[in-house]
Amino acid sequence: MNQDRKIETMSDFFDNRADIYDDHMINELDLNVFYDEIADCIPKNRTNIKLLDLGCGTGLELERIFRIYPFAEVTGVDLSSKMLDILKSKYEDKMSQLKLICKSYFDIDYGKSIYDVVLSTYSLHHFGKELKLSLYRKIYCSLKKDGIYIEGDYTVKTTDEENRFIEESEHIRKAGGITDGIYHIDIPFAVETQVNLLRQAGFINVQIKKQWDKTTIFVCEKN
Ligand SMILES: C[S@@+](CC[C@H](N)C(=O)[O-])C[C@H]1O[C@@H](n2cnc3c(N)ncnc32)[C@H](O)[C@@H]1O
Repeated sequence: MNQDRKIETMSDFFDNRADIYDDHMINELDLNVFYDEIADCIPKNRTNIKLLDLGCGTGLELERIFRIYPFAEVTGVDLSSKMLDILKSKYEDKMSQLKLICKSYFDIDYGKSIYDVVLSTYSLHHFGKELKLSLYRKIYCSLKKDGIYIEGDYTVKTTDEENRFIEESEHIRKAGGITDGIYHIDIPFAVETQVNLLRQAGFINVQIKKQWDKTTIFVCEKN
């Protein structure tokens, strides 16, 4: 998404685009294959799963997961109430299995050894290294012994490119007088940076499941 525009808070950005979001992702960006690959990473050998979805938005990634595990217990976290409203309207029949939290995933406790799967798609590329590392540590802790973390997100090819995004985001913040708060500014990382952060958080086995030009899917086993 183009950064050459007025900077909006994350919740405003997605609240203002919630109505067109699914059409943009599926019909304009043609991301069905991405969501198929995400579903493919879900372990299939369990009777049911508990899943934490960070930045769940309208729940595009959940459709295929509910096909695999119709009774999956899902906690979805998102800052945008409008995105969550759409998710609710799409999964009315699953509401008894869905817990939706309209907050920042940096501000909530995930608990210890709770989830079989933690998942995040197209959400974490807005945050710097320290914040991401702190989040990965919380994710690691919240997973069961045989749990996995799946992340599918925008990535760049080199750390030089990554550094240019970091510099640009600092410039945007400075120019806008932004000192704190969550804003919609893209900072995609290089794959090697991602792998290093995930390893630092404790994940021993970090696999690159699939890589496209601007997107990578990482699958991280707790043990
Ligand atoms: C591009 S959308 C992705 C939604 C969904 N995961 C998908 O793949 O379609 C990014 C979502 O992350 C949410 N988000 C971004 N930062 C967040 C934060 N700190 N806490 C909770 N949600 C956040 C946004 O509100 C938005 O709904």
